[in-house]
Amino acid sequence: MNGYADFQSPNRVRFGVDSFLTLSEEVQSFDAKRVVIVSDKGMVNTGLVDRTSRLLVDEGIHVDRFTDIEGEPSFQLLESAVTEVESYQPDVVIGLGGGSAMDTAKTIAALLGKEERSSYLSGEVTIPSRMVPCILLPTTAGTGAEVTMNAIFGDTKQGVKRGLVSSALLPDVAIVDPVLTRSCPPRVTASSGVDAFTHAIESYVAVRATPFTNMYAEKAMELFPLHIHQAVHNGSNLESRVGMSMVSHMAGISLANAGVGAVHALAYPLGGTYHVEHGVANALLLPFVLEVTGKTCTPQMVSVASKLQLGDYTETPDLALDAIIYYLLQLLEDLDLPSSLQELGVDEQSLPQLAKEASKVTRLLSNTPYTLNEKKILAIYERAYNGRGLRR
Ligand SMILES: NC(=O)c1ccc[n+]([C@@H]2O[C@H](COP(=O)([O-])OP(=O)(O)OC[C@H]3O[C@@H](n4cnc5c(N)ncnc54)[C@H](O)[C@@H]3O)[C@@H](O)[C@H]2O)c1
Repeated sequence: MNGYADFQSPNRVRFGVDSFLTLSEEVQSFDAKRVVIVSDKGMVNTGLVDRTSRLLVDEGIHVDRFTDIEGEPSFQLLESAVTEVESYQPDVVIGLGGGSAMDTAKTIAALLGKEERSSYLSGEVTIPSRMVPCILLPTTAGTGAEVTMNAIFGDTKQGVKRGLVSSALLPDVAIVDPVLTRSCPPRVTASSGVDAFTHAIESYVAVRATPFTNMYAEKAMELFPLHIHQAVHNGSNLESRVGMSMVSHMAGISLANAGVGAVHALAYPLGGTYHVEHGVANALLLPFVLEVTGKTCTPQMVSVASKLQLGDYTETPDLALDAIIYYLLQLLEDLDLPSSLQELGVDEQSLPQLAKEASKVTRLLSNTPYTLNEKKILAIYERAYNGRGLRR
């Protein structure tokens, strides 16, 4: 570790089965009379938005809702959401859902009461401190957005995704109740679960990793193989949902403070151009990016292989990376996730343009332990386009 390390986290994290039922206590701790629940249509269909609302209304709290979010929100949607939520004059903003709902909720809370928003949304100016408290409740086990100071939105004009970064995006309270993830369908459980693993491994090898972030990343990687299969194939199994919520939350803490790298940089243009879900893109790209970048961090690969229970590679460190890549490719198959860009409908002709866009995500590329230029990025996309090339 060079120099000093900052470590940030929400003021309070309440983790555990049925912690959701204590939401009104947290709301009342802010002396709030009016709240807004920010969520999405899928969540409305699960009945969780109604349940959340009832918990608060029963305690005499006025509840408004903004549930117009569609997966992977855009800046355009965010702007209209801020305007609408402003008219409700909430004392607290509650984000209920996966990363899409939580990112929208935390950014709305951070922007409320601020007049000039365009410079914040363009990323030119960092959003200054928040005036309205924010509580986040994740319903997927993946993004860790309840503990990060990032929020990701699609720029529909430029066909890319961009991240906003500010301490004002950290919530006051994160309530992580694994019960809320039990209704998650297998595909979302699989893609968001591998997304969480990607956060753990990318932040573990990140240039900005510290002993503090590594502690969380290592624990997340150790728990991941114990729970991911059950969570996807037997979703009502609460133990695996608890395990995956821990993976997601711990990987999120590591990601928040160490940052992520090239997998995310290459996933952004896929999300922006082809609207591939964030978790699916990360899961697919991870083995192909690691194939290139993993060579530069052999000791960490030995440790990752051990956390994943792939064997002891201390005597043969150069073989650890291969074992991890094989495990990840096998995982895509076991979890029924796409294993090539071709399968996702990506046009081969567009790969150079995707590589050009990805090479501009310098915030993440510079945090990767290997210098990736446009040419090398294109080579990774080409490998991922054909897929399965790494199978033994
Ligand atoms: N802020 C961060 O640090 C961060 C980190 C990673 C990803 N992200 C962002 O998060 C977004 C992806 O989030 P996600 O993977 O959690 O998916 P999501 O929030 O887009 O949700 C995917 C789908 O699952 C449904 N869903 C969520 N929880 C459910 C439940 N319990 N039961 C039934 N359905 C449920 C939603 O309604 C939605 O249709 C992307 O926009 C990505 O860029 C943010």
